[in-house]
Amino acid sequence: MNKTSNRKRHILQLGIWVLFFTVKIESKCTKGCDLALASYYVAQGSNLTYISKIFSQSIPEILRYNPQIWGGDGIETEARINVPISCLCLNSDFLGHPIKYQTQVGDTYGKIAQEVFANLTDEYWIQRVNWFEADQIPDFVDINVTVNCTCGNRQVSKNYGLFATYPLRPEEDLQSISIESSVPTMLLERFNPKSDFSAGLGLVFVPAKG
Ligand SMILES: *[C@@H]1O[C@H](CO)[C@@H](O)[C@H](O)[C@H]1NC(C)=O
Ligand SMILES: *[C@@H]1O[C@H](CO)[C@@H](O)[C@H](O)[C@H]1NC(C)=O
Ligand SMILES: *[C@@H]1O[C@H](CO)[C@@H](O)[C@H](O)[C@H]1NC(C)=O
Ligand SMILES: *[C@@H]1O[C@H](CO)[C@@H](O)[C@H](O)[C@H]1NC(C)=O
Repeated sequence: MNKTSNRKRHILQLGIWVLFFTVKIESKCTKGCDLALASYYVAQGSNLTYISKIFSQSIPEILRYNPQIWGGDGIETEARINVPISCLCLNSDFLGHPIKYQTQVGDTYGKIAQEVFANLTDEYWIQRVNWFEADQIPDFVDINVTVNCTCGNRQVSKNYGLFATYPLRPEEDLQSISIESSVPTMLLERFNPKSDFSAGLGLVFVPAKG
């Protein structure tokens, strides 16, 4: 009698330890950082007022990270602008920046990802954090949008602390991004071990000056 209850206690203790370690292993991030950048590709018809609104970030604050822009609403299309974002450890699982977006008539998760947020996220990644079925998204409701981000990796290099989440465009590759950012290709690859720069789509993290 005593022996079996002792055994039961041992099994219970073992169970608690296993649970503890599993939870520990599964929490993949502990803290984020105050500042990261979202590289927003400005399509035809977009403007700073709109970008300021969807990211809930003031225009002067956005302009601070874009010295190439003169001010006003006249931003060049087919160019990128850096939008400052916070980068948080979400669900103890990944680094991301949460956004509330109010749906417009005709929005789909895919359209919101590709057009509104310029591929800074994707359909799947939006659907995951909203309970509306993809074909039943009401108009004018707040939905969750998450933009992935990074705060760097000290094991790769301590010299870079500010990173842009950068959606690749079909015309871009490792070389072009290396030239544009003045970051050596090898370093870009090491900061993005899982990314395929030649795919012309998907997110990469590019170290930014600052
Ligand atoms: C700014 O862009 C939004 C979204 O594309 C558009 O609805 C709005 O009319 C534009 N505003 C100006 C002044 O161009
Ligand atoms: C987002 O990606 C889609 C598909 O690759 C592309 O057609 C679209 O132009 C991209 N949007 C922006 C703003 O770059
Ligand atoms: C964001 O990061 C998560 C975790 O690494 C990944 O599963 C997801 O596909 C990423 N989302 C995008 C849009 O790349
Ligand atoms: C957005 O995320 C919050 C927090 O996780 C959740 O409570 C809310 O239901 C989500 N919104 C939708 C539309 O799923």
